[in-house]
Order: sequence, then structure tokens, then C-alpha cells
Amino acid sequence: MKDKLNTLKQEAIEKINSSNSKDELNLIRINYLGKKGDLTAILKTLGSCTPEERAEIGKLANITKQELEGLIEEKNKALDKAVFDNLKETEWIDITAPSNKVKVGNAHSITQIQYELEDIFKSMGFSIFEGPEMEDDYHNFEALNIPKDHPARDMQDTFWLDNGNLLRTHTSSVQVRTMEKIKPPLQGISPGRVFRYEATDASHENTFYQVEGLMVGKDISVANLIYVMKVLLKEIFKRDVKIRLRPGFFPFVEPGFELDINCLICNGKGCSVCKHSGWVELLPCGLIHPNVLKMQSIDTEKYSGFAFGLGLNRLVMMRYGIDDIRHFMAGDIRFLEQF
Ligand code: DAH
Repeated sequence: MKDKLNTLKQEAIEKINSSNSKDELNLIRINYLGKKGDLTAILKTLGSCTPEERAEIGKLANITKQELEGLIEEKNKALDKAVFDNLKETEWIDITAPSNKVKVGNAHSITQIQYELEDIFKSMGFSIFEGPEMEDDYHNFEALNIPKDHPARDMQDTFWLDNGNLLRTHTSSVQVRTMEKIKPPLQGISPGRVFRYEATDASHENTFYQVEGLMVGKDISVANLIYVMKVLLKEIFKRDVKIRLRPGFFPFVEPGFELDINCLICNGKGCSVCKHSGWVELLPCGLIHPNVLKMQSIDTEKYSGFAFGLGLNRLVMMRYGIDDIRHFMAGDIRFLEQF
């Protein structure tokens, strides 16, 4: 019995010494000292020994147990220490190695200019309104003074859906939705995607972006329109921009205008971009037609307003000298990541 105990002890000590992980060490402890362990098994057989033997072996077994526990404890500490001693090897990194570059994406050039415009208008006290891309005939045409069979509808052919709705041809529909919800005085813009049934070419696309703007209140006149436009252009182009208004027809404004800006390439002297006129067409606008206000139960004796529709694609094209509107929706990463 004594020999057996000694052999077991030697065997356990060797295993403890050669173990090189805490998991392994724990397993050794369980195998020898655990409830079903080898040393415990020996202690359990003591009952069949003579009283003298029992006393001697019992003592020896307990000492062995304590010794082994002590050794395991020490080894545990040694293993902990080794982890820190080896840190310099195991946690070594080469800070000069080239990194795996994370490719950071960027907002689409149209989105970027949209955010810029939103900031400019917010600073002037305008709110941002949203409207659906799938519209009904009433909001896209009728409430904008374009009744059924009106020839103005021909300028805005679009995609009609089986449910009788259509993909909105302009953001002007949001003017109506805004006036339905909010009583004047009100001022807001609405950026968004619009659609036309177009034969596409360098300056026509079936999907493009506009920002609609409107202001309705007491004594709103063309002067207010011109002022807001001037602030806008100064912020966008970072310089004073000369503007002029020409008459333009849109059923939902009266008077309606085309707003031109002084050509920024030649400063109005005349060049190929402005077709030697010194002016570039920027956006249509006007004073909101009384019929449009009346349809929203706005008292036209008391209130008037202006509206404008800014083409975002065109604005980005002017800013960066982009010559084909089809680039915006083509999804060519080489084009998109330039901005
Ligand atoms: N909705 C018109 C279009 O897409 C543009 C427009 C013209 C908007 C005059 C306006 C406006 O707000 O006053 O062709």
C-alpha cells in the first residue's frame, strides 16, 4: 500500500512538472485528488487495513495530498507568471507592417449637395418636408392647376402604375401635401427623386433629383423670392451671383419665371458654356397661382407665396463640369468615388 502510494506520488509529481497549461493542471488535480481520483481511491480502501497500517498510511496519504496540492498551487502560479513573461513574444505586433486599409465610402454627389442645401435653407428658417415617390394624379397634377387633358401634362410624361397612381414627375406635389398639413405662414423645401418617361441622352434621364421650395405668408412677393435665391446662390457658389428673371410658363405659378445666373465660367462675358449669352438657366420659379392656394383653402386675399424647383443633377453638373446626366444613375464606382 505504501509503495503504491509512493509510485502514485512520483507519477503525479512528474505530470505536474511537465504540464504546461492550467487546464492540464486542473485535470491532473481531478485525476489524483478529486472525489473519484486515484489518491482518494487509496484512502477509501483504508477500512480493510489493520489499525496500525491505517494510522501510518492514512497519515502518509494526507501528507501526499497536501504535497501534491502545494505543488499544483506553485505550478499554477508559475504558469500565470509565464503568460506575462512571454507577453513580449505572444503579443508582438509589427507596427510598421502595412495595414489592411478599410475602404471608407462616400455619399453620392447628389446626396452631398442635398445635405448642403438643407443646411442653407434650415439656416433661413425653412423646414424639410417629404412626400411619396408614388403619387396620385391629384397631388402631381390636378392640385397644381394642371387638370386632366391640360396640354401641360405632355411636358411631364411619366410611368403610370396599374393601381392608377404614377411615379411623381416633380417634387411640386409636396407643395400640395405641405399646404394640406400646415397652415400659413409656412416655408419649407422638399428634396427628392422624380421620374419622367424620357428618351435618355446626355441631358435627359428617366430618374433625377429636385429640391422644391415654397414660402407662403402675408405680403410674400417676387422680392422675397429674389432675396432667398440670392442667399442660396451665394452659399452654393461662395460668391455673389448675378441673377435675372425671364418669363416662364408653369400652370402652378403666376407670374412664372426662369431664373438665370450670370455664367460662372466667363463671368458673363460669353463663352461656349453659356452659348455666348453670358447667362445660364438655373431654375424655374414664380408666385404660387391663386388656384393652387384656393384648392388648399388658403385665403388669397390674405396670403401669397413663391415656389421654385431646383434640379439637383444640373447643379452638381455645373459645379463639377459633368457633361452627361446618365453618370449619376449608372452605378460606375469610378465616377461615384470622385466626389
Ligand atoms: N415642377 C416643375 C418641373 O419639374 C418645376 C417648377 C417650376 C417648380 C416652377 C416650381 C415652380 O416650384 O414654381 O418642371
